[in-house]
Amino acid sequence: MPENTTEEAAGGTGTDGSAQVLRPHAEDAFADELKALAAADDRPRPERWRLSPWAVATYLLGGTLPDGTVVTPKYVGPRRIVEVAVTTLATDRALLLLGVPGTAKTWVSEHLAAAVSGDSTLLVQGTAGTPEEAIRYGWNYAQLLAHGPSRDALVPSPVMRAMARGTTARVEELTRIPADVQDTLITVLSEKTLPIPELGQEVQAVRGFNLIATANDRDRGVNELSSALRRRFNTVVLPLPATPEEEVAIVSRRVDQIGRSLELPPAPEGTDEIRRVVTVFRELRDGVTTDGRTKLKSPSGTLSTAEAISVVTSGLALAAHFGDGVLRSGDVAAGILGAVIRDPAADRVVWQEYLETVVRERDGWKDFYRACREAGA
Ligand SMILES: Nc1ncnc2c1ncn2[C@@H]1O[C@H](COP(=O)(O)OP(=O)(O)O)[C@@H](O)[C@H]1O
Ligand SMILES: [Mg+2]
Repeated sequence: MPENTTEEAAGGTGTDGSAQVLRPHAEDAFADELKALAAADDRPRPERWRLSPWAVATYLLGGTLPDGTVVTPKYVGPRRIVEVAVTTLATDRALLLLGVPGTAKTWVSEHLAAAVSGDSTLLVQGTAGTPEEAIRYGWNYAQLLAHGPSRDALVPSPVMRAMARGTTARVEELTRIPADVQDTLITVLSEKTLPIPELGQEVQAVRGFNLIATANDRDRGVNELSSALRRRFNTVVLPLPATPEEEVAIVSRRVDQIGRSLELPPAPEGTDEIRRVVTVFRELRDGVTTDGRTKLKSPSGTLSTAEAISVVTSGLALAAHFGDGVLRSGDVAAGILGAVIRDPAADRVVWQEYLETVVRERDGWKDFYRACREAGA
């Protein structure tokens, strides 16, 4: 659409503008797969679901359809986790995805909403400052002053819109929201209604409505989920990748996707540098070397899969812009140091010990050792 001004393109919701936006929503990025799945799907669908639970799980986990369409895996991990999550959404209980940072909670939530409702955008971002209005509704003050309270002056929250449409709402970082604001969700989830006392009205949830929340189980100093609210959720814990191979596969796949959207050179799957980043992260996270022989101290950072993805992506960008386009040790060393050394004093000691006792002695890691020494100098 060449005539479109930038503003118009930015205002569009991605029906044909998805090629131009920096990050298309899951339902746009994977529209072809979702369409093929819907066509092949002959199992019963819960009311207002775009796909059957089976097809939603296939969308997340990947597979090949009878017509030969390959569905790429979005989530790499235990199949059962995805099955339980999808099944929960078809019941009257909401879904809570719990886990340490970088375990794909947000990612899974977005793809579930895209596959179930064809819309992942009804999203409330939880922060310490999230007000009740963000979950219930607000007012358009010009309208309110001119005409008084009416449905026209009401600004529905994403949750209210999902209730009215019978689709999936998402709440990110639920436990960062102050406890009394979180409790707004109790009526929504137990009574399936959102009262509007100012109008003497309510919005009742239509069948098909459900809610996916995410929460970090490592958030310190944040608000616990009240037990009243917790009872409304089925909790699904997303684990860290079980094996190094699994984690290398996750990192390779995401780096490939992100790299293509940034027009970076490709990194061959499981290249040495990806393997190395994953090994370093896992060993420091687990506090022991892969062979189980040497105990290590763990640094304060989380060293998540998501961070490994961003270290490799930044490395590829360095290689593309300042190197010969091939990812090398020098391109990932600085990123690794940045991820490991969060607390300049304590973490530096942990890193130095790891570098000198493990990295230095390892066969085939000489280049990497040198690059890390240079990056740390
Ligand atoms: N098991 C996994 N399968 C697929 N992708 C994963 C996995 N673990 C992490 N990722 C990737 O990590 C990135 C960050 O995940 P995110 O959803 O933001 O984490 P969280 O919300 O748990 O902190 C995403 O790009 C996602 O693709
Ligand atoms: Mg998240």
